[in-house]
Amino acid sequence: MLNFKEKIAEAISKVTNINKEELESYIEVPKDTSMGDYAFTCFRLAKELKKAPPAIASDIKENLEIDDKYINKVEIVGGYLNFFVNNSILVEEVLKEFENKNENLNIGEGKNIVIDYSSPNIAKPFHIGHLRSTVIGGALYNIYKYLGYNVIGINHLGDYGTQFGKLIEGYKRWGEEYNIEANPIDELTKIYVRINNLCKEDESILEECRNNFKKLEDGDEYCNEIWSRFRSLSLKEFQRVYDLLGSKFDSWNGEAFYSDKMAEVVQKLEETGKLVESEGARIIDLGENIAPCIIGKTNGSTTYATRDLAAILYRARTYNFDKALYVTSYEQVLHFKQVFEVAKLLGLDEKYINGLEHVPFGMVRLKEGKMSTREGNIIKLEDLLNEAISRALKVIEEKNPDLEEKEEVAKKVGIGAVIFNDLANSRIKDEIFDWDTMLNFQGETGPYIQYIYVRTKSVIEKAGYLPKYENINVNVLTDDSSINVIKTISNFEEVLKQVVQKNEPSILSRYLIDLSQSFSSFYNANKIIGEDKEKQDARLYLTNVVGTILKTGASLLGIEMPNRM
Ligand code: ARG
Repeated sequence: MLNFKEKIAEAISKVTNINKEELESYIEVPKDTSMGDYAFTCFRLAKELKKAPPAIASDIKENLEIDDKYINKVEIVGGYLNFFVNNSILVEEVLKEFENKNENLNIGEGKNIVIDYSSPNIAKPFHIGHLRSTVIGGALYNIYKYLGYNVIGINHLGDYGTQFGKLIEGYKRWGEEYNIEANPIDELTKIYVRINNLCKEDESILEECRNNFKKLEDGDEYCNEIWSRFRSLSLKEFQRVYDLLGSKFDSWNGEAFYSDKMAEVVQKLEETGKLVESEGARIIDLGENIAPCIIGKTNGSTTYATRDLAAILYRARTYNFDKALYVTSYEQVLHFKQVFEVAKLLGLDEKYINGLEHVPFGMVRLKEGKMSTREGNIIKLEDLLNEAISRALKVIEEKNPDLEEKEEVAKKVGIGAVIFNDLANSRIKDEIFDWDTMLNFQGETGPYIQYIYVRTKSVIEKAGYLPKYENINVNVLTDDSSINVIKTISNFEEVLKQVVQKNEPSILSRYLIDLSQSFSSFYNANKIIGEDKEKQDARLYLTNVVGTILKTGASLLGIEMPNRM
């Protein structure tokens, strides 16, 4: 697309002899449009040019040669040069670009991105903390893909570790008492709680549990059989949540997958001479600022960190990744620091080490204090999603009792509200979970975006046709509210690039709110249908562009759009 910033920087570069790229970074987009569409600040040049900013501004302006086809006014305000673009050209460029954009943006071509996300623990409830990982990771997955990257989504299931030693022990003792088939995770949780209590009372039972895990690692048939049954029963239950959220993964290789791949890690670490004994365990010392990384436990069994190290080796070889992202809560910051440090000792190419990135997020806080279930205060995600759907249904029944397919719509609205709430603010912030806020159709919410989308649809439906780009008079769309929509549209690509730069899907969420709000102002300021045909065509066309971007953007976040609501 026509890059106004670049055009301005080019012209200033001719006058100042300063390179264009540097100048481009001095150009801002003023919030207040009376200050122009672009503002060039002369303050940063004051030192270099040994002149006061207003004097620099007037020098530049005097000698500036800029095509008035693009820029129709330049004003000096203090140390700023404010540029006003030719709105008709702007509209034309933005819409033309949109019209021609069939091929995806290919900035990611040839690059491999591994995203490790969701990754719940088997035989434990899939709780609200895993929701964030699933939703943030899923959004990143879609956005990278849209930008042309080759993306591999991995559900690194917590299907290994000492807790399985405990479960096996509990099952051995009281398996008969529980109806595991009917309600796997609830029942396994009960067994887990019970055996845990027993372990606290009796050290020798804890020892038994540890040995069970050791046996599992060593391939003991009985232990493996139970383990594999727990795993598949749990996965069946998790799948219900993934179906509700629309989550998909390319790989389900969990921790157990690496059970035969850790020996190599240990061997490589041994070769460095840095793997040392400490209180019976084998550790890598990471200096004063980071706690040591435990590679092998006292009884010889492996750790969460060792499995992650084996996974790094495997992913480097299998996927040749340019980036490997790990989406977990910030509670695991230390873990990944340790793992990434130790990974440097595995003899991998620098490229892989530099590509490792932890993508941490904040905790979920519930507005009404605790949300407790029968079991304690872990909220099961499945219950929560179903509650979102039934609450959405209630709102729809109040607002639009005659709507067809209410259940379908409620599902999209309820789930969309939960997903959007999760992605609305920068990920590192703690998330507040409050039903009324997230289901508010007028707030900065998923349902609001869906509502605006539905409005674009219904306008087009009412008109009964979609005008062609060739027949649009762009001059109709040069009023303030239309220009505001046009400018927002022109940012879409840039927003997606920023998302992957920072691994921050909230940049897209904010954008969709901005686009919805700008459309809403446009809609209130302009009569779309019923004025003259020329205006109607142009405005309808713009309406359709907004709807299309809203739908694309929402689907990148994992949110489906209803056609009515
Ligand atoms: N299963 C872990 C948990 O629930 C998350 C795993 C994250 N991924 C990884 N490669 N460590 O906390």
